[in-house]
Amino acid sequence: MSDRRKFIRDVSLAGTGMMLSGLPGFAIQSGRPSNKLVIGIMGTNSRGMALAKTFSRLPDVEIGYICDPDETVLNRTIDALDKLTGKRPKGFADVRQMVLQKDMDALAIAAPDHWHAPGAIIALQAGKHVYVEKPCSHNPREGELLVAAQVKYNKFVQMGNQRRSYPNVNDMLRKLHSGAIGRVYFARGWYTNNRKPIGFGKKIAPPSHLNFDLWQGPAPRRSFQDNLVHYNWHWFWHWGTGEALNNGTHMIDLMRWGLHADYPTQVVSSGGRFHYKDDWETPDTQVINVNFPNNTACTWEGRSCNIFESEGSGTGVVFYGENGTVVYGGGNSYKLFDYAGKLVSEVKDGSVFDPSNRVSPFDKLDENHLQNFCQTIRGQDQLASPILEGHKSTLIPQLGNIAFRTGRALNCDPTNGRILKDPEAMKLWKRSYEKGWEVMV
Ligand SMILES: NC(=O)c1ccc[n+]([C@@H]2O[C@H](COP(=O)([O-])OP(=O)(O)OC[C@H]3O[C@@H](n4cnc5c(N)ncnc54)[C@H](O)[C@@H]3O)[C@@H](O)[C@H]2O)c1
Repeated sequence: MSDRRKFIRDVSLAGTGMMLSGLPGFAIQSGRPSNKLVIGIMGTNSRGMALAKTFSRLPDVEIGYICDPDETVLNRTIDALDKLTGKRPKGFADVRQMVLQKDMDALAIAAPDHWHAPGAIIALQAGKHVYVEKPCSHNPREGELLVAAQVKYNKFVQMGNQRRSYPNVNDMLRKLHSGAIGRVYFARGWYTNNRKPIGFGKKIAPPSHLNFDLWQGPAPRRSFQDNLVHYNWHWFWHWGTGEALNNGTHMIDLMRWGLHADYPTQVVSSGGRFHYKDDWETPDTQVINVNFPNNTACTWEGRSCNIFESEGSGTGVVFYGENGTVVYGGGNSYKLFDYAGKLVSEVKDGSVFDPSNRVSPFDKLDENHLQNFCQTIRGQDQLASPILEGHKSTLIPQLGNIAFRTGRALNCDPTNGRILKDPEAMKLWKRSYEKGWEVMV
């Protein structure tokens, strides 16, 4: 077994409860003569379209089904895939109908965040594997439910924190873990952009091509307003999770991985909606500071409205160790410095991070993560990002947002991240649901 394989296998086994050697071949399991996988995609306005295109480039993968409550988006995606692959996927408005398709092996979810865990659980209950975009949940309780559902229904669930499948990121983590800069005790991550204001929305009837009831799904009903769909829901707590989950999850995942850290002991956060006055509710500027029980800490800085780079990159992480420093610029490259600050080695990749491309800034590299998911279903790999790891990395920025919203330092149980002795903050651990849409495992 190669080092990378062994490494991935070691990281993954805890989260899946499944042994590579114990899985029968996919073709035998599925009763199919080939390794063909049929994928359904939920939500295809931008990220879902990118996922559909990338999945369809993989060998023996077919996009059989597309689901979106926006008819315009649905038809556009079906036409685009037809043109690209010569096969027309079948369209649905309602994911609950789509997951009933017998030949569908897996659901890939790129709907808004309030749909991630509920959609994944619906798919698991229908016996499907799941690729769920980051963040894997809207709130911590939903993350816990998703982890429980993965165990109960025993299917593969991978989160879309795709850097876990970038080759040089794996190489960097291997070096960090083997002591290349001594014990790593601190990490600093960041994300920058120059997002424009979203104005003050007018309450109007939803457009006729959008089924807003299905768009809201599990979220308690609110009136439609004209600055919400698509994309700007990210900045409303009711459906979105802010930049901390939107982009922070990626770097926080790497920091946690590099620090060998699971759940935190303490989380604090400061920031605000500073740059513009509009309907945007989540912070556009935020710092989240986290302490872990293994004598390590990390900090994440998000600037949604000031794109000034740090360490020459719009997103990235610096790992600080007892004997040196590693600088990672968000892509598939990194630099290693000794304790005196002298460059020791540099591992380069040609891919350039484009923070203004919010859909797929490293398209070709992302393919690795989707291939890893497909190969795992076929019994030929182990998940690079099993859902328990995805949940831990999603939980940290969620706790950051709870600390920000309550204005308090949160003390957490290091075995599960739950907030200690603060019932007010624990109210934000979960959400309420529209009647009939409660999420249950
Ligand atoms: N991994 C990454 O690098 C990456 C990059 C971009 C986006 N994302 C994630 O992808 C998700 C989607 O982001 P986006 O920018 O494409 O958002 P978007 O608002 O542009 O698109 C979301 C789509 O989901 C559809 N949708 C809503 N409810 C649905 C339902 N019940 N069933 C099916 N479809 C539904 C919407 O109609 C829309 O077409 C987000 O959670 C985001 O965090 C991940």
